[in-house]
Amino acid sequence: MHRTWKIASIVVAGMVVIALSGLANARDKKMDGQALFKEHCKVCHGADSDNGEYTPMTLIQDQWEEFFSDTYVDTHKDVVDTAHGGKKVTEVITPEMLEKIKKFAIDHAADSEHPMTCG
Ligand code: HEC
Repeated sequence: MHRTWKIASIVVAGMVVIALSGLANARDKKMDGQALFKEHCKVCHGADSDNGEYTPMTLIQDQWEEFFSDTYVDTHKDVVDTAHGGKKVTEVITPEMLEKIKKFAIDHAADSEHPMTCG
């Protein structure tokens, strides 16, 4: 009898953990490029940041293309993101999220039709 309860509570705890991580994922999935940029880039690249301030209009479209295809992984794979569980930036941001961030950055780059900060 006690054993059954123990197993049942382990199962329930497991389900709670899965449900919670699912929620976090769903939240990230629903976010658009701007929200993702704010949440996953601005945390380290806001005004006065030691890492440099970066918003979409900081760079021109070619520079963003180059950053996402050449530099991003090299310069962020060893950077720990304390705002997101202390994981590496490249582990926190999924490929789908990065696609959205990239599109937002390029759509609103300095030489785009609608230059923008991430708000
Ligand atoms: C946890 C902190 C952190 C996060 C999150 C982060 N960066 Fe960085 N970023 C850095 C650091 C550290 C550097 C290196 C600064 C240096 O070399 O002086 C850097 C460098 C850069 C550079 C300069 C070019 C380069 O690669 O060296 C750009 C552009 C950049 N980041 C954009 C972004 C974008 C866009 C995002 C979101 C997808 C992002 N960063 C997320 C910390 C972060």
